[in-house]
Amino acid sequence: MTQVVIMCGSGGVGKTTMSAALALRFAEEGRRVMVITIDPARRLADALGLAELGNTPQRVPTSRGELQAMMLDAKRTFDELITRHAPNGDVRDRILANHYYRFVSERLPGVHEYMAMERLLAIVRADDVDVVVLDTPPTRHALDFLTAPDRMAGLMDEGVMRWLVLPASASGWRMIEMGSDVLAGVLKRLLGQNTIEDIADFFAGFQSLWGGFRERSVAARALLRAANTRFILVTAPAPGARAEALAFLEVLRRDAMPFAGFLVNRCAWPPAPAPAWPAAAGGDDPASWEATTRAIEATLTRHRALVATQEAAIADLLAHAPRGANAWRIPEATGEVHDLSGLRGLGMALADSGALDVLRGPA
Ligand SMILES: Nc1ncnc2c1ncn2[C@@H]1O[C@H](COP(=O)(O)OP(=O)(O)OP(=O)(O)O)[C@@H](O)[C@H]1O
Ligand SMILES: [Mg+2]
Repeated sequence: MTQVVIMCGSGGVGKTTMSAALALRFAEEGRRVMVITIDPARRLADALGLAELGNTPQRVPTSRGELQAMMLDAKRTFDELITRHAPNGDVRDRILANHYYRFVSERLPGVHEYMAMERLLAIVRADDVDVVVLDTPPTRHALDFLTAPDRMAGLMDEGVMRWLVLPASASGWRMIEMGSDVLAGVLKRLLGQNTIEDIADFFAGFQSLWGGFRERSVAARALLRAANTRFILVTAPAPGARAEALAFLEVLRRDAMPFAGFLVNRCAWPPAPAPAWPAAAGGDDPASWEATTRAIEATLTRHRALVATQEAAIADLLAHAPRGANAWRIPEATGEVHDLSGLRGLGMALADSGALDVLRGPA
């Protein structure tokens, strides 16, 4: 059965980078791996061979195993689902050309997260990779991502459809009040332009597809809680990162999603013991020697203080997390991580941190 690793956390902490590093590492240990990334930096996308066709998995050259990478495109994934599951060409074309469908597939809040779930489910069901690593978008609310299948299942409910296709009834407007501001704003604009017919037409066309969408959203929900699924929370070794990491953890705990551990990314490393000074370091000039020595000492002192601050932040995080929670420290790599050798370095750090043992181990 395919193992699922989901990398989540706040914006900019290194989810995409560490997803790629973990996937490459697993592949080079001899497994068949798929990584679904979200919007990687250009050079990382290049390194993964994703520069051109994002939504289609691409082979990444590895020394062993098999790595495929893709960059999720929610709109295209949705189009492909419609194309695959529509009962005939007429229904397919009607939906794909529909004004409201374009909004749903591009801008409906949560659609990106839901499509990530659809892809994840399809990969697990195909059962031709050993591990799938899912990078997640920087959601303002952790909930947006984790509850996407539930919300999509709700949207697929006949009841909701009735609300939307029968706007004249009193309850017809409730959806608009309940939805996010974006949804409400766009719907109001659509309605203002008399395109309520578009909405009705979309749901009429979609009718034959509901069952499948609903079944898959229920399955995706179960997949998030499956025995072979693990969530990693990427965070920073800074006091300010605690609140968000713990909020995320709370969501995982409440929804019974399997938490593997914190990946504390971009840590400064304790300095190695100072080597013996080479005789030439300060030259012959005693003043220059003195100044050099003092500058190095000051730097080391600041570095030790930085490491101590980080360790205090990690200890504080763990003190507020469930007893025995893992905190895997990953060092700050020198320079941008934009190629396979940079990712291999981080993969090594993942192995050294102990994270891989936990991810490999039994549930
Ligand atoms: N261990 C590391 N050492 C050095 N740089 C790192 C490390 N991890 C990530 N970075 C750098 O940090 C930046 C942000 O990383 P990344 O894009 O992976 O974060 P993210 O969590 O996916 O961001 P977003 O929330 O915007 O999707 C990138 O420039 C990346 O190269
Ligand atoms: Mg990212």
